Amino acid sequence: MTYPKCGTTWTQEIVWTMLNNPNLDHPQALLPIMARSPYLDRDMLHRGSKKQLDEKHPFIVTFKSLCPGKNLEDGMMLQMSQATPQPRVIKSHLPFSLHHPNLLDKIKVIYVARNPKDVVVSYNHHSRLMYLHGYEGNFQDFVKYFVDDDLVYSPYWLHVKEAWDLRHHPNLLFVFFEDLKADYMGELRKFDKFLGTNLSEEQLRNVARHSTFKEMKSRNVATGVNKEEMSSMNQVVLKENGGFFRKGESGDWKGKLTPEQEAMVDKWTVEKMTSFGINFTYSV
Ligand code: A3P
Repeated sequence: MTYPKCGTTWTQEIVWTMLNNPNLDHPQALLPIMARSPYLDRDMLHRGSKKQLDEKHPFIVTFKSLCPGKNLEDGMMLQMSQATPQPRVIKSHLPFSLHHPNLLDKIKVIYVARNPKDVVVSYNHHSRLMYLHGYEGNFQDFVKYFVDDDLVYSPYWLHVKEAWDLRHHPNLLFVFFEDLKADYMGELRKFDKFLGTNLSEEQLRNVARHSTFKEMKSRNVATGVNKEEMSSMNQVVLKENGGFFRKGESGDWKGKLTPEQEAMVDKWTVEKMTSFGINFTYSV
């Protein structure tokens, strides 16, 4: 569970691989991640899009095989989330307050947070890249929308706070994107303990190798590689600034935010987040 652009896809691939593919021999491992690990609340975004998915799209093919006789109009990802075989790995960008109040009594949740300045850069790119979002405004306005809590899934600070307040719950693992970057194996061991997967060192190394930025980008884990999939992206933005796997770094905001934009996000961070215990200034 995360706010967009905090490392959701990365975490999905790590968790799915730990649970299903630690020996790197699973026949479905090359399907796009959302065919293996559905995105619970994606249907609401898709309803706003004029573009229909092709019959051969891996999501549609997976939907048909998992949910025979079911109607796409009743929610593709919602129904796939129900039908995906155990152990299910489900992605959601909804904050805790929009999930069932007893969620943590029933399931384990990994929550990932990321430095707001990297989030705003990554989210702006994503919103321009994906036709599903179709953002056509400029970066200055986007930063303003972010600090005004006016983007899809905002407010970011409240999203993080709701998870942070629950961080001591035994069924919640709260992690930072920056820590995954800084100590990958250390964080994977935390995942292993939390999930109870008991992987060997070799299996953990398999997971690490399989889920590096370079590996995931080369497999196009987010969208798959066929032409239909790529048509979900604005090709001009793709060529100029990269695809879904853009940079995968901490601190990439440097040189992208003007000093005024940096001050705007910093002020917002101090006002909204420092008060409950996160300042995001430790590493970036
Ligand atoms: P950037 O745009 O900064 O590159 P989400 O999956 O929540 O939408 O987050 C996407 C962000 O995570 C993107 O950030 C993407 O490149 C980054 N990311 C995805 N997989 C990654 C990996 N294996 N290692 C590091 N960063 C990764």
